[in-house]
This record gives sequence, structure tokens and C-alpha cells, in this order.
Amino acid sequence: MSRSVLVTGGNRGIGLAIARAFAEAGDKVAITYRSGEPPQELTALGVLAVRCDITDSEQVEQAYKEVEDKHGAVEVLVANAGITKDTLLMRMSEEDFASVVDTNLTGTFRVVKRANRGMLRAKKGRVVLISSVVGLLGAGGQSNYAASKAALVGFARSLARELGSRNITFNVVAPGFVDTDMTKVLTDEQRAAIVAQVPLARYAQPEEIAAAVSFLASDDAAYITGAVIPVDGGLGMGH
Ligand SMILES: NC(=O)c1ccc[n+]([C@@H]2O[C@H](COP(=O)([O-])OP(=O)(O)OC[C@H]3O[C@@H](n4cnc5c(N)ncnc54)[C@H](OP(=O)(O)O)[C@@H]3O)[C@@H](O)[C@H]2O)c1
Repeated sequence: MSRSVLVTGGNRGIGLAIARAFAEAGDKVAITYRSGEPPQELTALGVLAVRCDITDSEQVEQAYKEVEDKHGAVEVLVANAGITKDTLLMRMSEEDFASVVDTNLTGTFRVVKRANRGMLRAKKGRVVLISSVVGLLGAGGQSNYAASKAALVGFARSLARELGSRNITFNVVAPGFVDTDMTKVLTDEQRAAIVAQVPLARYAQPEEIAAAVSFLASDDAAYITGAVIPVDGGLGMGH
């Protein structure tokens, strides 16, 4: 397999593990990164790194043009880029809410819509959206994040219906707590409290999320669409 794969936010954390998995399987992989420089290991793997802030439609358009130019139309899109701005509702500003939705939900809309053009033409495509167990269970202090991540399920399921006859699948992966920069901000106490709720009694490694994404993009998953796959150590018990 040597498909054109695009992973947003592929410069670190879960996105980096996903990009690595596709590249090691022989796909032509491109990642977007918003800040800093992409890690050297991606260059060694032949991964194309394109600067793009998914809150800016013009940057999304430019990124796709560069990827299409070098790798051809995107056949597998993993919409992974996301942010948190945690705080209790009474302290949450409209900007805290809107910016999280603009990145996690509307940013996903921007990259999916642009990918759809090439997928329709090719009459095939795989789209995987990275949501969160928090979108399904809720979490105090994360109402903005949970709302944005829950919305991805309705978005994916609507598109699964709209575009299933065009041989494009839309699935959601809902990770639990994963060892990345996003969870490094938690205190040891918060971490212990989370782990106490997880049947498998540990955090996930980014590679464990990547494995589910690779499966959903594989031929073995050709008949799966509109699904939400939890990779959460049992935290959500299938939700
Ligand atoms: N870690 C967890 O426990 C966990 C659990 C469930 C779901 N998730 C989800 O998994 C995804 C990846 O999380 P992670 O833990 O790997 O997070 P991370 O280490 O904080 O990485 C987030 C990635 O998203 C990118 N990004 C953020 N805003 C962006 C924007 N406006 N435009 C383009 N890229 C942007 C970041 O780019 P920069 O490097 O430029 O900031 C970075 O590459 C997120 O959607 C997150 O919500 C994470």
C-alpha cells in the first residue's frame, strides 16, 4: 500500500505516532504542524511536513495544494489536531469556548471538507476523526472540549450517511487518557485519580491509538463506517 495519507497535528503526541505507523507501513504520509519545527525522525521516515493552522481556511487550502502536488490527492485523512482550554463554566470566557470549538470541531470540518473533493473524484476515501472519551462521558472543567469532541460523532455519522454510497468511510476514535503533552499538565494526584477509574489501570501510549486508526484505514475495515471506537482502557465501557 502506498496511499496518500494526511495527519493533522502530526508533529507530536498521538498525531506523531499515527504518522509514524502509516509511514512504517509504506504509505506516503504528510503531516501538518502549526508551530515550531517538525521532528527530525519524520524527515528520516520520508514524511512531508506542511505548516498549517487549521483555524485558517486559507492555510488549509495551501497545505492541501502542497500535499496534492507531492503525494497526489489525500486518500486517508486523520483529523487529529486539537486543543484544550479547561476551566469551570463560571470562569469560562466566550473566547475559551469558541477557540476550542473552532479548532476541534470547525477545524476538523475545514480539513474534511477539503479532503472530500479528491475523495469524491477518486470514488474512495477513509476519514478518521480523533475525538475523546470525555466527549462521551463529560468531564467537569472541560465543557468546551467535551462539546467539541461529542460533536465530532454527529459530524462523522452524518457524513457516513451522506457519502457512504461514494465509498468514503467516516469513523471516530475516542481515546481515553494518553501519555502526551496534553496530559502532562495534570498533577500526580489528578493522574492517580484518573488511573483509579480505568479498568486497565494505566494511561494509553500514543501507539495504541495509532493502531486503531491504522485498522480503520485498512482494507479489513472496508465495511465499517459511522463507528466510534473507544481506545480507553475500559474507562467508557464501550461508550
Ligand atoms: N492526550 C490525551 O489524553 C487525549 C485523549 C483523548 C483525545 N485526545 C485527542 O487527541 C488529539 C491529539 O492529542 P495529543 O495528546 O497528541 O495532543 P498534543 O500533544 O497537545 O498535540 C496536539 C497537536 O494538535 C496540533 N494543533 C493544535 N491546534 C492546532 C491548530 N489550530 N492548527 C493545527 N494544529 C493544531 C498541535 O500543534 P502544535 O504542536 O503547533 O501545538 C499538536 O500537533 C487531540 O485532538 C486530542 O484532543 C488526546
